[in-house]
Amino acid sequence: MPDQGSCTVIVGCQWGDEGKGKIVDVLAERVDIVARYQGGANAGHTVHVGEDEFVLHQIPSGILHEGRRCLLGNGVVLDVQQFFEEYDAILERGIDIEGRVGVSYRAQLLMPYHRFLDKAVELAADTKIGTTGRGIGPAYEDKAGRRGVRTADLLNPERLAKRIEAAKSRVVARLDELGAGTQELDRAMDETLALSERLLAIATDVGPEISTALRSGRHVLLEGAQGTALDLDHGTYPFVTSSNTTAGSAATGSGIGPTQITDVIGIVKAYTTRVGEGPLPSEMSPEMDEHVRTLGGEFGATTGRPRRCGWFDSVLTRFASQVNGLTGIAVTKLDVLDTLDEVKIATAYRMPDGKTREFFPADTWALADVEPVYETMPGWKSSTCDIRRIEDLPSNARAYLDRIEELTNAPVKFVSVGTKRSQIIPVD
Ligand code: GDP
Ligand code: IMO
Ligand code: MG
Repeated sequence: MPDQGSCTVIVGCQWGDEGKGKIVDVLAERVDIVARYQGGANAGHTVHVGEDEFVLHQIPSGILHEGRRCLLGNGVVLDVQQFFEEYDAILERGIDIEGRVGVSYRAQLLMPYHRFLDKAVELAADTKIGTTGRGIGPAYEDKAGRRGVRTADLLNPERLAKRIEAAKSRVVARLDELGAGTQELDRAMDETLALSERLLAIATDVGPEISTALRSGRHVLLEGAQGTALDLDHGTYPFVTSSNTTAGSAATGSGIGPTQITDVIGIVKAYTTRVGEGPLPSEMSPEMDEHVRTLGGEFGATTGRPRRCGWFDSVLTRFASQVNGLTGIAVTKLDVLDTLDEVKIATAYRMPDGKTREFFPADTWALADVEPVYETMPGWKSSTCDIRRIEDLPSNARAYLDRIEELTNAPVKFVSVGTKRSQIIPVD
């Protein structure tokens, strides 16, 4: 019998941008396959290798390790044009990518009309979501509405043309209603369809490939995009993305059974950030928000928008631990807090009715009015960037991590103290 394989899900536990890309890149060293299971080019995963910075939107963050197979599962909405731009850019930077990337035959294709509609709807909306404008909502709507086009449809150009025409004319009618232009749409459609052969050449059956690899003792990472609070069911609806970002969808979106998953590692930033609209209960004072944004370089990797900053919110991470079934957490960006006099953790919410609760509420509108209950801890006031062993961290930083672990209800497995691969502290 071959050695037992392993399948680890990497999932964001806040509002995205927790540093999933960096942790996946570090862990990719030990695995054979990295697969994305949901989302699309709304994701922006920044990875530093030596002096080089890569921002990955659709290609899994394992691509920067030689020889790793990188797959996009059925749960993703694939923006074909953006995908090949990213692919070619990586290739141009000297990474040997040929033959290493595979896309599921079952993946939904995100078409240019989805991007057009996303932007037009957002512009016209009274309640704005602050989407990334990448067409994610409309693409998942077409999937659920059974109007979507999948990689496998490229095998039959006649059927493909019919399905696209039906879906596209529906969107164009909606764009007309919204008074939005469609200039350049036909050109973008032509450019997308011209990539069909290229896409088919890398199309594969992702679920069977992963299952077979696991059975022969290989190691797999399933890389989540966005975060738990952006999950369509469990997040701050409607200020969420349009996919299930949580660990349950790692099986559905990659095409394996849930019993094949061995671990779920939640990625939590040492504080909280959010980009886009919607409540952020532990939002910092304007001065502190600005200060931490500067220290942490908190600007969106996909849209460049400033991220709002908040204190560590354990009400949210405890909920994330439960909904994702976390077996451990990786705490990232601890170094960003190195210079602060004190750090705060939200441990509960005082609700608008005056009651205190420790559970993340479903009522998003009430969430906008909650008053967090904070615990304040002393800062450590020294650099953690060069520390590689947990016992070498300043005692106040260790106390902070211990409290995060206790309140989140999941053991700390990694602490990240900088953008570099080497800036990681494994915890036994
Ligand atoms: P993702 O979407 O979850 O992959 O996260 P992003 O890449 O959007 O945002 C995380 C940002 O923090 C990126 O610019 C990373 O390079 C950076 N980063 C990740 N881990 C650390 C860390 O431990 N310390 C510091 N200072 N930056 C980090
Ligand atoms: P990564 O993978 C942070 C947010 C958008 C918006 C909402 C809906 O880098 O962590 P969408 O375009 O998905 O319809 O936008 O979700 N959002 C993200 N925020 N990180 C992301 O991805 C995000 N992807 C989407 O800002 O509030
Ligand atoms: Mg990001």
